[in-house]
Amino acid sequence: MRRKSRTTHHLDKQIDRRSATPIRTNRKRLAQLIIPALAIAAIGTTVTAAWGWSAGWIGTRVTATRFVDVMEQTNGKVYTGFRRAHSKGICVTGRFQPAAGAASLSKARVFHQANVPVLGRLSIAGADPHAPDATQRVRSMALLLRTDDGQQWRTAMNSFPFFPVSTPQGFYDQRLATAPDPATGKPDPEKLHVFFAAHPEARNYDAWATTAPWPNSWANTQFNGVDAFRFVNDIGARTNVRWAMRPQEPFVAMSAQQRAGADNEYLSEDFERRVALGPVRWDLVVTIAAPGDPIDDPSRPWPAGRVQIVAGTLELDKMTPQATGPCRDVNFDPLVLPNGIEPSDDPVLAARSTVYAQSYNRREREIARGQATDATGQEVPR
Ligand code: HEM
Repeated sequence: MRRKSRTTHHLDKQIDRRSATPIRTNRKRLAQLIIPALAIAAIGTTVTAAWGWSAGWIGTRVTATRFVDVMEQTNGKVYTGFRRAHSKGICVTGRFQPAAGAASLSKARVFHQANVPVLGRLSIAGADPHAPDATQRVRSMALLLRTDDGQQWRTAMNSFPFFPVSTPQGFYDQRLATAPDPATGKPDPEKLHVFFAAHPEARNYDAWATTAPWPNSWANTQFNGVDAFRFVNDIGARTNVRWAMRPQEPFVAMSAQQRAGADNEYLSEDFERRVALGPVRWDLVVTIAAPGDPIDDPSRPWPAGRVQIVAGTLELDKMTPQATGPCRDVNFDPLVLPNGIEPSDDPVLAARSTVYAQSYNRREREIARGQATDATGQEVPR
């Protein structure tokens, strides 16, 4: 029987994208890291090393390399050429049309250009690219919006409303604690106990995962950015925000019984039927933080009732298989941001960027070396 993959993934507090060796924080070394990073940031793209440093997570033991090593170990197998998380998915394309309200909050061109082309990816969590769709609680949407001035906004969102843990270290610990014990095929209760004692916030996520109804389609799933960002407008005013793609399709729940009987590929089959009839739409909902709301902790949702604006509408009208589609070789790095959107100090955000790069490098290298015939659609696995 196929092993179920984890519904979530992880990472730690301080990671060096370029090396598995923890960084010694001497001045020369910091300058080597930061000066080139700032130079690149100056041309408009936010660079991970700079944010990694400012978020305070360079200097401890867990590196991006080690993080991805642990993901591969706890996945039980390396699926060459595939993403080390959210590996099963499809490519989608369409456009984003901004609404008037967002332009006063952010000068980003995406909120000022009438029609922005979008390349995206819809996926499920987990590392097995052939997992039955119903085995994964978490579904995902990743987007790359490219404006007419050459800038890009990349974002990767999940169906969970908040992250299980507040730090990259927490996610790293979670990966290890929830890995099946080879002797029993289940997580070791003692390791789980130690994990929850160290990261009690993870109990909130468990409560969500065990009670929230499952939607029956990508099209009626809300995808949440979870990490906080800052919008910067024309006069330099900054607003702390979180964003989500709220479906225009009505929510339809899928029972456990329906999931048990569902086809392995029911999500892509459903989406194919829908786009054949016309575009599928989501509203981009931006939630504005009130003073005191946590902007550096993705495990803590903001209270209900915060000001929200609809900043635009996404419509997707085409899908292609991942193996031969335009999203396969994209790293949806959440820190590739246009002028007008800045990262928050959330350490998870900074860590994501470095770990995605490590996963991306590994899978692209495998493809380049001809080691990834399944991922490139040249082989049907037996
Ligand atoms: C420390 C925390 C996290 C780590 C270490 C992590 C790790 C990863 C890795 C390794 C990938 C594969 C990247 C690639 O090969 O291109 C990935 C993909 C993804 N992650 Fe995370 N992740 C973290 C947190 C999050 C959070 C908070 C969200 C959303 C709220 C998220 C959403 C996604 C999505 C949507 C994808 C698939 C992107 C695509 O379609 O290419 N992750 N993650």
